[in-house]
Amino acid sequence: MTLDINADRYRESFEAYSEIGATANDGLHRLALSEADRTVRDRFVDDLEALGLDVRVDEVGNVFGRRDGTDPDAEPVLIGSHLDSQPYGGRFDGQLGVLTALETMRTLVDSDVDHRRPIEIVNWTNEEGSRFKPALMGSGTFVGEFDVEETLAATDADGTTVEEALEEIGYRGTEPCEPREGIHAYLELHVEQGPKLEERDRSIGIVEGIFGMAWLEATIRGESDHAGPSPMHARQDALVAATDVVSGVRRLSNRLANDVVTTVGEFEVSPGSINVIPDKVEFTIDVRSYDDDVVAELVDRVDAELDAACAREGTTYELEELWRIPHTEFAESVREAVLKSAQARDASHVEMVGGAGHDASYLNDITDAGMMFVPSVDGKTHNEAEFTEWDDAIAGARVFADTTRRLAR
Ligand code: GLV
Ligand code: MN
Ligand code: MN
Repeated sequence: MTLDINADRYRESFEAYSEIGATANDGLHRLALSEADRTVRDRFVDDLEALGLDVRVDEVGNVFGRRDGTDPDAEPVLIGSHLDSQPYGGRFDGQLGVLTALETMRTLVDSDVDHRRPIEIVNWTNEEGSRFKPALMGSGTFVGEFDVEETLAATDADGTTVEEALEEIGYRGTEPCEPREGIHAYLELHVEQGPKLEERDRSIGIVEGIFGMAWLEATIRGESDHAGPSPMHARQDALVAATDVVSGVRRLSNRLANDVVTTVGEFEVSPGSINVIPDKVEFTIDVRSYDDDVVAELVDRVDAELDAACAREGTTYELEELWRIPHTEFAESVREAVLKSAQARDASHVEMVGGAGHDASYLNDITDAGMMFVPSVDGKTHNEAEFTEWDDAIAGARVFADTTRRLAR
């Protein structure tokens, strides 16, 4: 059941793809549906076509490449991840998973290995949710969690819609964004993006599940006035209230459960002048836990923080929930397949839960989905310093290829 991937080819592809949208500090700036995303997609499609795969692009830009199996009636195994990145993010997040799936396809074609089930590789559109919200957009639309029209109408900070951006880069496909048939299993390799594998000195994480999370957007409104003559006691300073909320949100992480993480990542002050009291602040809040009830409670507590801070400062607020996803428990069948493949290779492994969002979570709604993690040096990610040792990536890719073959038997 083992497959011999070509480690040099795997690494060379990684280096070549990493040049598309490269930053000065060895990172990646390849926002969803940007020019750099167009260039990397073009390269990906060329690579799939060179393998003789049947390539399709759906109406939200998800790209698929299919290799037939020996049984024309069998449901396919789907493998892949995403090629978009965070702003000034790392080279491994998403890209390593797509290129591991590509190396698996290349190995199957090269060694002329038969598999009963078709195998399809996929690059999901806008996994990161950074330019267009929410995250996991392509996979969420594919499984029916998001409406196609809503997805196409989502806008970036400049008001450009997903539909316009897809048309601009030539990836507004014609295929309906939905499964054409039953899918037997979905498998995704990803960098861990945290420190657990490194701490335990294991090369492979067999992912049991993924945290649930909620994304919120708060707007606080006060009154602008002159920074000089306006007496302190008469002010309704939106920024003073907002910073109280930021501190309160940070403190929530220690209160409700051990695994709770909370982040304010976007923050905009208006009118933004040194000598004007801010009358409006908009900011986002990201809250996560493996326990969905805790996530629900966190949303209520964020609301309570806003309420208290605005009462103190005489400001008002609105809180909008942009997105929520429950925690994921991956399919036993895929976990078992990864475990057997890791054992057969004598690869060190451990079962673990992941804190980052992944397309595999949505795929798990419609098929048996699973994930493998490989270690992130110092646990760093969403950062140009993101790095995975090549020995770990290669060990992961070997187990990934074997698992794909096992699932496609
Ligand atoms: C995606 O990278 C997320 O976890 O927010
Ligand atoms: Mn990712
Ligand atoms: Mn990411």
